[in-house]
Amino acid sequence: MDNLAPPKPGARPASSFVYDKAFVNGEWVAASSGKTFEVVNPANGKVIGSVPDMDATDTERAIKVAYKAFQSWKETTAKERSTLLRKWANLVNENIEELSKLLTSEMGKPLAEAKGEITYGGGFLELFAEECKRVEGDIIQTPVKSRRLLVLKQPIGVSGMITPWNFPNAMITRKAGAAIAAGCTVVLKPAEDTPYSALALCDLAKEAGIPAGVLNVVTSSRNNAGQVGKTICESPLVTKMSFTGSTAVGKLLLQQCASTVKKVSLELGGNAPFIVFESADVDAAVQGVMGAKFRCSGQTCVCANRIFVHESIYDEFVQKMAVVVEKDLKLGDGIDPGTTQGPLINKKAVEKIEAHVQDAVSKGAKVVCGGKSKGGNFFEPTILTEVTNEMRCSREEIFGPIAGIIRFKTEEEVVGLANATSSGLAGYFYSRDFSQIWRVAERLESGLVGVNEGVISTPDAPFGGWKESGLGSEGGRYGIEEYLEIKYVCMGGLQ
Ligand code: SIN
Repeated sequence: MDNLAPPKPGARPASSFVYDKAFVNGEWVAASSGKTFEVVNPANGKVIGSVPDMDATDTERAIKVAYKAFQSWKETTAKERSTLLRKWANLVNENIEELSKLLTSEMGKPLAEAKGEITYGGGFLELFAEECKRVEGDIIQTPVKSRRLLVLKQPIGVSGMITPWNFPNAMITRKAGAAIAAGCTVVLKPAEDTPYSALALCDLAKEAGIPAGVLNVVTSSRNNAGQVGKTICESPLVTKMSFTGSTAVGKLLLQQCASTVKKVSLELGGNAPFIVFESADVDAAVQGVMGAKFRCSGQTCVCANRIFVHESIYDEFVQKMAVVVEKDLKLGDGIDPGTTQGPLINKKAVEKIEAHVQDAVSKGAKVVCGGKSKGGNFFEPTILTEVTNEMRCSREEIFGPIAGIIRFKTEEEVVGLANATSSGLAGYFYSRDFSQIWRVAERLESGLVGVNEGVISTPDAPFGGWKESGLGSEGGRYGIEEYLEIKYVCMGGLQ
């Protein structure tokens, strides 16, 4: 936090959000073991601070607190919850500058993107403040005269959440906002790399008046993450679990949740196709791919992973994209104005990207620009051409700034290739052929489709994957349903 500009007059400095405690029952608490772990700025390797390294015992305590708080929170009216969520959203927006600096320092994304994320994150709180008032039941036509059939929707209970480092703010508000709006209470484990944005949200939730025990954040190091996750998944007091992260971890958590048959939401890895058809506006497609590929240095689940370009416009697309990459992308510390590409999250991520480039080049891909690490956690934005479906960068989620461009000939071929993956989170395509737009939008096997748009996430729309990319949907009015149970009430014996 040493290289940050001072806050605006009257605003809280980002450093005031750097807590050395976790947040349970409305209080700042240490781990029962007394242990802590360090949080490091990925841009410069400097330690920002230390937070409690909590374990299963601490998690069980937080679950009990959340369970007790649920008994009264579930009795509140939607209007009461809405008012508090709205206050929370306002506080997030009022503190956007400092929350963004905090987010950039722990996660690395450029400040402009961090501000975008805080706006996005606050947007979920605002949305769910509205949606909770629209949770409605049903009265069903009765087949028996003496009965009336009702459907109630009720909060599911204590909701466990495990959130990722790439969106340290918005993935929390997308889950916790929905849960709290529905009348549930929360035990959340943020990613070990980015606990401060989570703790800042707790601070603001408390200031907004959200009662003690409704939102609890348990911080833990990578070493303890497994036991914290397992405790959440296996606790009989937790009736819902929501996770955003890798498919491998999602599968493990799903297995652990089987023991108590929890309702589970999973937002897992993607392998998004980005298709540019021959009728596309090539300049628009280039702009679109810049957002879809290089946002967050390629570290989002919805990033374009395989870029398919029709053979008739392949060379033009590559040449135009290379010009924009060279001109517009600037690698550096996200806190510096002008940086558009921050560091990757850690050394392991850099090594993985290097391995992807080596694999592709060894199988015939050409490096058009970038291709190298630049020291520390930095990796150059990279374009690879003559990429094929056999290369690792086409088969696995890259999660880094490599744009691998694949040639195709026909719509049928490319839709087949796009769908030939176990993932199904996002897909994008550019076309000006109206019939093709409908055909391909319907045929892509993914939960999100961008047509002539490269960045489509918004609090108002559902976000969820097909196939191994996940279960359930977050965001929009669908997001709150994940935290509700349906109850059928039969009123009988009526005269
Ligand atoms: C993610 O990468 O997990 C979320 C991306 C988004 O919300 O756009």
